[in-house]
Amino acid sequence: MARITAGVTTSHVPAIGAALDRGEDKSDYWAPLFAGYEWSKKWIAEERPDVVVLIYNDHATAFSLECIPTFAIGCADEFAIADEGFGARPVPTVIGHPELACHMAQSLILDEFDMTVMNQMEVDHGLTVPMSLMFGRVESWPVRVVPIAVNVVQYPPPTGERCFKLGQAIRRAVHSFDEDLNVHVWGTGGMSHQLQGPRAGLINQPFDHAFLENMNANPTALRAISHLEYLREAGSEGIELVMWLIMRGALSEQCNELHRFYHVPASNTAVGHLILESPLDEETT
Ligand code: DHB
Ligand code: FE
Repeated sequence: MARITAGVTTSHVPAIGAALDRGEDKSDYWAPLFAGYEWSKKWIAEERPDVVVLIYNDHATAFSLECIPTFAIGCADEFAIADEGFGARPVPTVIGHPELACHMAQSLILDEFDMTVMNQMEVDHGLTVPMSLMFGRVESWPVRVVPIAVNVVQYPPPTGERCFKLGQAIRRAVHSFDEDLNVHVWGTGGMSHQLQGPRAGLINQPFDHAFLENMNANPTALRAISHLEYLREAGSEGIELVMWLIMRGALSEQCNELHRFYHVPASNTAVGHLILESPLDEETT
């Protein structure tokens, strides 16, 4: 049986990908940021997940403003790297797991989450920057990926509560797939940041630290955060944090925090990173 064994969250700032691609990761500005992922890279090399269910948001790349699915699941064999205006990042094509993805699409839709099925989709920095942070520069990615894109770009995004429940449904979907697979679930984006308007540059460290703490200590408190609260406390792009709640919903109720990192700023963003180990609970054994 497929099993979710761990969850990873991380911010997905495009400038991080550019720094790595240009070999600037040892610079004074970037070295402290990349240092926070050294432990994670060693850990994941030992964990060797077969598949990552990677929750991220598209930034008007695969989806223009003409068509915006709330939740989309990538069922293709592979996903090309998008050109976000400066050429596609020089990273390997992302290899999918169509059998697991199609099973998940069926399970999620019958579980009353109306996923949009993507049989072709280009992926942007929301997906590729976390891959680079966790695996570094590689010839080919060492995992297969089931991408799940969430709309947080055009109002109205889904609520945090709805996202947490989608995570729980992802857990049911993965755990009913009849193949031995070690599966990780990642949630990308956040933490506090605002890229536009009079409050551009907003960062709220107390809010971010409380969010990091409650991911394991009290996820119930995070489920109740409203759109207005995200906007007020974490800035207009802080809403990306709802994707962390999908990851959290997909894990066991009791998790072990293995690694936490927080760094301000990277570009305009407060970078947060968490690794939670998800023990197999009664329901899955
Ligand atoms: C930045 C952060 C993001 O999450 C994003 O999608 C784009 C830009 C930034 O801080 O520059
Ligand atoms: Fe973003």
